[in-house]
Amino acid sequence: MDMQPILAREGNHNLRNYEKIRESFDWEDVRKTFSWYESGKVNAAYETIDRHADDPAKKDQPALIYSSPEREETLTFGQLKALSNKFANLLKKQNIQKGDRVFLFMPRSPEFYASFFGILKVGAIAGPLFEAFMEQAVRDRLEDSEATMLITTPELLKRVPQEDLPNLKKIVLIGYHSETNEKYVDYYHEMEQASEEFEIEWVSLEDGMLLHYTSGSTGKPKGVYHVHNAMIQHYATGDWVLDLKEDDIYWCTADPGWVTGTSYGIFAPWLNGVTNVIRGGRFTAESWYETIDKNNVTVWYTAPTALRKLVSAGEKVVKKYDLSSLRHVLSVGEPLNPEVITWGVNAFNLRIHDTWWMTETGAMLIVNLPDMDIRPGSMGKPIPGVEAAIIDNEGNELPPNQMGNLAIKQGWPSMMRAIWNNPGKYESYFINGWYVSGDSAYRDEDGYFWFQGRLDDVINTSGERVGPFEVESKLIEHPAVSEAGVIGKPDPERGEIIKAFITLNEGYQASDELVEEIRKFVKTGLSAHAAPREIEIKDTIPKTRSGKIMRRLLKSWELGLPTGDTSTLEE
Ligand code: WTA
Repeated sequence: MDMQPILAREGNHNLRNYEKIRESFDWEDVRKTFSWYESGKVNAAYETIDRHADDPAKKDQPALIYSSPEREETLTFGQLKALSNKFANLLKKQNIQKGDRVFLFMPRSPEFYASFFGILKVGAIAGPLFEAFMEQAVRDRLEDSEATMLITTPELLKRVPQEDLPNLKKIVLIGYHSETNEKYVDYYHEMEQASEEFEIEWVSLEDGMLLHYTSGSTGKPKGVYHVHNAMIQHYATGDWVLDLKEDDIYWCTADPGWVTGTSYGIFAPWLNGVTNVIRGGRFTAESWYETIDKNNVTVWYTAPTALRKLVSAGEKVVKKYDLSSLRHVLSVGEPLNPEVITWGVNAFNLRIHDTWWMTETGAMLIVNLPDMDIRPGSMGKPIPGVEAAIIDNEGNELPPNQMGNLAIKQGWPSMMRAIWNNPGKYESYFINGWYVSGDSAYRDEDGYFWFQGRLDDVINTSGERVGPFEVESKLIEHPAVSEAGVIGKPDPERGEIIKAFITLNEGYQASDELVEEIRKFVKTGLSAHAAPREIEIKDTIPKTRSGKIMRRLLKSWELGLPTGDTSTLEE
């Protein structure tokens, strides 16, 4: 915290005079920039893709530059409009209606984006699933959302427990599959037949657009429900925070299975009409630098975990690539270490701009604007139109430098509108008109916010949110496991790793093989990113008298900290 602030670069930026703009800011002025403000014809897919495709000057501009180790492909705005129209026709033919939930479960690919916009164009709700999910994770989400259609690949179909999903009427398969039946729809065959013309289903700003499942500390993952209105903030933050200009080449490294990969991998860049680089395949420092170098990426939105990996890959690797195209770098998802910011100044000659937000908030809320002085370690300040504060548990605002709940005054455009099928849960987020984030933080005298940690047991591993309950539930399905408690253990590269404490059922002997088998069981049954890296076998797991696992106590043991109040501990 003693670090010198890093001063703003000489900006060409339109949000100078932050304090002044905040005073008079009105979201209405952003709303006015959309065509629906006059026409009343609302659909985020139109604003994101078709509007540019219908503009002769932009129609042939590359919208998507896709590359993976196996495949390279570029789609212009015109082509993306045509492909998504075809897919919308495919959906209509399968009788998909406005409001239906249509899920996508596949690796990042051009087909993903064509399908995604097709779903929006018929007024249905898109539910993207992370490609690493295994059967349990897929089942939970499709069951809860009552999805009627899934778009996937023949390889991933194995992880879809079709017999347990009576609502799932149709499965669109991208690629050859030996089995045919009335449930399966052949993507390539149908796309070939489908017309490129489609009349977009106009919706209202409050109609559903997106369901992102995310983990809390208790219970199954929750469906965070977003509506078309969110485009207002996706557009505005793309302009103010990502600082996108028409000729930018932008790269967001997040997978569309997570909210960053939709809000900032789809909406923000294309609402602002820029060329969007999408990279498939695994992370290596070389391939990431190459992506910037080869595509002349100008604006880059990534995550601390990735940046830390680049730091450890060393200076020699950076020097092999020409990264001079970069003009603006941003980060999200976890605390951005001050050392990484310093490294960024050396490696790219640029500041890395931290941004804070959540699946629930739909878009950025607290940020480092391009022309703001950065205080390394701080998440920055709220964007215009957003009021943030630190509150106590009763909803009273706390003075500067006091730690408390990071909370946001209700009323920003991209806020989730519901937790799917769970109105009670939705209500529980609010106190006195504040949305309570679950993060603890403080605000300094100058209005900068400083992240301190999670207030609940949610784990953040490599920027991915994992609920301990989901992992515990899977662990105890293994025949050897009697009880399980799961925590996040601090880790220099991943932020946190998942650590499980388990007790064994009678007849099972602790061994390295058994531990590995249990780890694999979670990895192949739930998801690779949710599998515990460490499993420790215990004689008992601490629980409250009402039977709740005391994860706080497990964490204190792990960290060798004082155990605090244990009065509720069972005998
Ligand atoms: C954490 C990702 C520190 C935080 C967009 C939040 C951060 C959770 C930051 C949301 C940041 C996000 N500094 N922590 N700049 N940004 N987080 O829903 O704990 O996957 O509550 O959304 O990530 O994660 P989610």
